[in-house]
Amino acid sequence: MLSKILALAALLGPAAAQVVGKETTETHPKMTWQKCSASGSCSSVSGEVTIDSNWRWVHDKDGYTNCYSGNEWNSTICNDDKTCASNCAVDGANYSGTYGASTSGNALTLKFITEGEYSTNIGSRLYLMAGADKYQMFTLLGNEFTFDVDTSKLGCGLNGALYFVSMDEDARYGTGYCDAQCPRDLKFINGEANAVGWKESSNDQNAGVGQYGSCCTEMDVWEANSISTAYTPHPCTTVGQHRCEGDACGGTYSATRYAGIKDFYGPGMTVDTNKKFTVVTQFIKGSNGQLADIKRFYVQNGKVIENPESTIEGNSGNSITEEFCKTQKTAFNDQDTFNDKGGMAQFSKGVAAPMVLVMSLWDDHYSNMLWLDSTYPTDASPDEPGKGRGTCDTSSGVPSDIEESQASSQVIYSNIKFGPIGSTFKQP
Ligand SMILES: *[C@@H]1O[C@H](CO)[C@@H](O)[C@H](O)[C@H]1NC(C)=O
Ligand SMILES: *[C@@H]1O[C@H](CO)[C@@H](O)[C@H](O)[C@H]1NC(C)=O
Repeated sequence: MLSKILALAALLGPAAAQVVGKETTETHPKMTWQKCSASGSCSSVSGEVTIDSNWRWVHDKDGYTNCYSGNEWNSTICNDDKTCASNCAVDGANYSGTYGASTSGNALTLKFITEGEYSTNIGSRLYLMAGADKYQMFTLLGNEFTFDVDTSKLGCGLNGALYFVSMDEDARYGTGYCDAQCPRDLKFINGEANAVGWKESSNDQNAGVGQYGSCCTEMDVWEANSISTAYTPHPCTTVGQHRCEGDACGGTYSATRYAGIKDFYGPGMTVDTNKKFTVVTQFIKGSNGQLADIKRFYVQNGKVIENPESTIEGNSGNSITEEFCKTQKTAFNDQDTFNDKGGMAQFSKGVAAPMVLVMSLWDDHYSNMLWLDSTYPTDASPDEPGKGRGTCDTSSGVPSDIEESQASSQVIYSNIKFGPIGSTFKQP
C-alpha cells in the first residue's frame, strides 16, 4: 500500500507532497483547440481539461473519512498543514456526474448547479492541459487568443470567466492555482494544506479562508454573463506563483473592475448574447518589446465588431494601453492598484512568460457580482463614471437566490485558437 501511495504522489508533480486518491479514476475530458501560424493556417491540437483540486473530494488516504467537508477541515487529521497533505488523498473526478463539466469536440460546457450522487456542486474551475500531466502553457505577448462563447444561459450574478494565470506547469489533479487577488480559499498551496487557522465562510457552506494565499499575474480575457462583460489585466508584485500569508495577501476581492457602455453588449444588442459569438484578444508588442496594447474584437454572424470607444470624459480609447489605464483611474477617482503593482511594465513580464488557461463559472459570495453587472458601489449613482457597470438590479446576484432560481445556468466555451497577431481571424 505504501509503495502504491508513493508512486501516485509522483503524479502530482515534484514540488508536491500530496497524495492521489483511487476511489474515482481520473479521466480528463478531451477537448481540441487550434494552433495558428503567421500564414493564417491553423492545425488541431488534442487537449484535455482538469478540474481544480479545490472542488475534489479530499479524504483520509487509507479510507473514506473526509479530511475536508462542507467548509471545515477535520482537525484530527489536519492539525498540521504538512501532515494533512500527506495523510489526505485528493481524488479523481466524475466530471459530468459530480461537477456538470463536459466536453464535445472543441467545446467545454460548464453547468452552474449539479445534483450529484453525494453532493450538490456549484460552479467549477478547469484548466486546459497538454497531455495528462502538464498544463498547456500559453505565452500571450505578441500573440492573439480567440474563442467562441455562449453566455445566453448566464443571467445576473453569474460570471463565466476565461482567463490566464501564471501557474506552474506541473499538475494533473488541478493543484497550484493562483491569481492576482491572492485567494486564501484554496485548500492546498505549494503541496501543503491550508488547514491551520482556516475560518469557515459565514455565507458559503462550501468555502472558507485559510492563513495562506496564492498570488500571481492574471489576465482576465473574459468575465461575463449575458448582460455585462469586462476584460482586465492584473499585474502582481511577483510574476510567477508565490504563497502569501494573512493580511499581506492583500484585499481579496477588490472592487476596481468595470463594465461600461450599456447598449453594446447584451440580448439583442450589437454583440447579441442570445447567440454564440467570437471573442478575439490581441496582446500587441510595442517597439520596446513590451506589451503596448490589449485589443479586443468580436465576430458574430461573420461580421467583425470593434470594441466601442470609451464614452468616459478624459478616458478615451477602445483598448487597454498604459495611458488608458492611467486616465481611467483618474476619471473614476479610484486608487490606482494597477500602477501600485507595477503597471503595464510588470504586467508585460507576466504575459511574456507562459501562463495557464482557466475556464470557469462562478457566483459571488462577497459582492453578488454587482461589480460586473450592476451599479457598484450600490449606493453610487449609475451615471457616475465607472459606477454603472450593467443593468442588473442592485438586489440581484445573491448566491442563495440564484443557486435556486438559475440552477440550470451554463456557459459554453469553444473553438479556441491561438497564434501570432492576425492569425486567428480575418481582421478588417
Ligand atoms: C476526523 O478524523 C478522525 C480520524 O480519522 C475520525 O475518527 C473522525 O470521525 C473524523 N471526524 C469527522 C467529523 O469526520
Ligand atoms: C458519475 O456520476 C453519475 C451521476 O451521479 C453516475 O450515474 C455515474 O455512475 C458516475 N460515474 C462514475 C464513473 O462514477
